[in-house]
Amino acid sequence: MKGIKFSFGDAMIPQQRILETAERLKPEIRNMANAISQGYESDLASLCLPDDKRMLAKVRQAIDENLQLKPVCLIVDGIGGSNLGTIAVLDAVLGKLYNQLTVATKVLFVDTVDSDGVNDIIMLVKSVLEEGGNIVLNVISKSGTTTETIANAEVLIDLLRRHKKDYKNCVSVTSDKGSELWKIAVKEGFYVLEIPRKVGGRFSVFSPVGLFPLGLLGIDIERLLDGAKNMKEACTDTNIEKNPAAISAAIQYLHYESGKNISDLFLFANDLESLGKWCRQLMAESLGKEFNKKGETVNVGITPVVSIGSTDLHSMAQLYLGGPYDKFTTFLSVENSNSHINVPTLKGYSKLVSGIQGKSLESIMGAMVEGTKTAFRKCRRPFMEVKLPCKSEYPIGQFLQFKMMETMYLGFLLGVNPFDQPNVESYKEETRKILKKKDANPL
Ligand code: PA5
Repeated sequence: MKGIKFSFGDAMIPQQRILETAERLKPEIRNMANAISQGYESDLASLCLPDDKRMLAKVRQAIDENLQLKPVCLIVDGIGGSNLGTIAVLDAVLGKLYNQLTVATKVLFVDTVDSDGVNDIIMLVKSVLEEGGNIVLNVISKSGTTTETIANAEVLIDLLRRHKKDYKNCVSVTSDKGSELWKIAVKEGFYVLEIPRKVGGRFSVFSPVGLFPLGLLGIDIERLLDGAKNMKEACTDTNIEKNPAAISAAIQYLHYESGKNISDLFLFANDLESLGKWCRQLMAESLGKEFNKKGETVNVGITPVVSIGSTDLHSMAQLYLGGPYDKFTTFLSVENSNSHINVPTLKGYSKLVSGIQGKSLESIMGAMVEGTKTAFRKCRRPFMEVKLPCKSEYPIGQFLQFKMMETMYLGFLLGVNPFDQPNVESYKEETRKILKKKDANPL
């Protein structure tokens, strides 16, 4: 496989057991192949996204039209599956300090209804508008009824309205066709982008949910989708030994069954922290379920944890290496950084830490990855390894697709529906009821 590399040699489960468990996924692999040929009809619809040329063409057109506004800033208003994928790709490819370093369009994310956070965004947007700059506001909500997203949309649309006569040109709405939000957007004359109905929030990064804001900010979305396509092929391979998502799901399932109910994604790159958060949502919301597919109470779920190397070695490693045997770890490292920095050979400093002078930070990080793996082996802590050649669009697209398919396979092995989120819906519903009843702030 081109790009991303996997290594399962330290899973600490006999190869035969892993393969037997992965073999059980064959019916689901067939379901996937059928789903891909059926188009967007089944629950596995997100698998159609990487190859959907029509959708891509529409997204490209939307990007081109919105870029004509020469936006100083893009505001992405969405939450959960509606923004985590975009943040993940953006941070990975462009870096966490993108806004500070770029001369191109900046980006702001608004998700929860934190008054002070939203106020900060308002201040930034106001200053752009007062200087005559343009803003693109992308409101993203599949359901079109998520309280946080809609409250923030109303605040921001009102702000744009008060500063710009032609504010309607600046607003793009991404939603299910026919949702209440969609209807308002059409009525108002906002730009509308459709999410295929069967594609759920956390599986929607390759739909207009992710592609529109990412493309607008200069991400090569075609390369991102190429990576996804390549991984989709690898992860539907019925030669199970060559199918990384099936093997990885089998390993995690077997560890879960033997009491390791925490899955730690240990990322050795600062800019991949948001990718970790996207993975966290994917695993938690897809697999944490009260009922199985037969309707029996099961209360299953693997608790996802995100760690950053080497930072969290100084905060969590003691627990990971000395604490309970309840975790399975995935180490993710990047083979080539975008930049190369050497530790200088300053006179008088060599005794502080020997062996670092003249070496690149990459090679020091590499030593830390190897050192951590050795420590894990010594303490009999199971892990698998993923190596990205670099943090560009292609391997990131591969990794996102790998994780989505691994999650689908885990859902199959656990006997749960990975595509619903009934308990999230229940909090949304309860909040709406409270808001309907009370005029005053319930706090
Ligand atoms: O993955 C999911 O389904 C959720 O995280 C949703 O994306 C999140 O709740 C936001 O929902 P919506 O896009 O309908 O506003």
